[in-house]
Amino acid sequence: MKKFKNPGDIRLGIIAGGQLGKMLIQAASKWDITCYVLDKDANCCSSSICKNFYCGDPDNFEDVYNFGKKVDILTYEIEHINTDALKKLKNEGLPIYPDPGILAIIQDKGQQKAFFKDHNIPTANFRLYCNKEDILKDIASKELIFPFIQKLRRGGYDGRAVISVDKEEKLSDLFDGPTVVEKKIDIKKELSIIASRNSSGQILSFPAVEMVFNSNANILDSLISPADIQSKIEIKAKKIAHSLIELLDVEGLLAVEFLLDKNDNLFVNEVAPRPHNSGHHTIEANLTSQFEQHLRAILNLPPGNTKIKSPAVMFNLLGEENFAGPAVYEGFREALELDRVYIHIYGKKETFPYRKMGHITVLSDTIEDATQKAIKLKKLIRVKSKQ
Ligand SMILES: Nc1ncnc2c1ncn2[C@@H]1O[C@H](COP(=O)(O)OP(=O)(O)O)[C@@H](O)[C@H]1O
Ligand SMILES: [Mg+2]
Repeated sequence: MKKFKNPGDIRLGIIAGGQLGKMLIQAASKWDITCYVLDKDANCCSSSICKNFYCGDPDNFEDVYNFGKKVDILTYEIEHINTDALKKLKNEGLPIYPDPGILAIIQDKGQQKAFFKDHNIPTANFRLYCNKEDILKDIASKELIFPFIQKLRRGGYDGRAVISVDKEEKLSDLFDGPTVVEKKIDIKKELSIIASRNSSGQILSFPAVEMVFNSNANILDSLISPADIQSKIEIKAKKIAHSLIELLDVEGLLAVEFLLDKNDNLFVNEVAPRPHNSGHHTIEANLTSQFEQHLRAILNLPPGNTKIKSPAVMFNLLGEENFAGPAVYEGFREALELDRVYIHIYGKKETFPYRKMGHITVLSDTIEDATQKAIKLKKLIRVKSKQ
């Protein structure tokens, strides 16, 4: 990357302008970095706070290539990007972090799992299938037994392409297409570690957090920081996260999702080379936020201190069931009457059931108290649509 005197001289390109892009811009603006955003939706979360907004498709070669030509350094907040355009930009000298080479692995859950297996990273046993018929054949021959988890190899997010198959009756729900089928882990807790690495090779991670999932939608329900786990488990998880960030040669953030089973075995579920939903609390609850840490890593600056300032519970503001259309936020004023409550509204114009519309971080001296407040807040603040 070109040497810069002032952070303000840097033109940072961000591919996609969802909530992660928006929060990255908020962190970058503290240092006066000039952000550029490419997103196909002119009303995306970032467009309202980014002067250099370009409407274009991250999947389209020309759009990505032309966008890359306007910036000094490029990063991304989604994984589904036209990699040919990224490779061409890279060959022409544009620094892109994380390196586009890893996207091929990340974009495909099958390749991710194979990568874990090839590198002796613990992960739930799995098989790859091309279609539903082959899965049914393996069930008939008892090669595959219930319960198992089926995931689309590509394009899934927020649990929208994951199903749990526990019995015969669920077989009609099977996806037909390229999928990963995994042994269902008897989960005690889901954990996440966000690690960062810069070009000088400095690696640091945030303390482990606990993710609680909504089983109706397979989506993050709330997050607890710090995770209530034995320190030996945290040490082991960090060691795995650090091996992964090195093996994948990520310069930037790597979020590593873990499943911890009832016997305290850790399994890597999936990874994402970017800021992650499991790090949103760091904005208020840690000495450095995950967004600032990503900037530090991609600009080859020293990593910031990741220590916890306060225990926290974070939950996503999800679109209420049975409501779809232009979003309205009920209970905003009442929620703000509570102490140490930090509301983030992403600015998505339209809501639909379970859409991530924002998040709230609650700080408290104890997790118990923060949890009680979060339960109260969930009832108070609701995302509905105009009637
Ligand atoms: N092998 C597994 N065993 C048990 N539960 C799983 C397994 N894999 C995934 N899950 C559950 O499904 C959720 C979503 O799966 P994941 O692969 O993380 O998809 P997404 O990309 O939608 O986050 C996980 O957070 C976990 O609750
Ligand atoms: Mg996941």
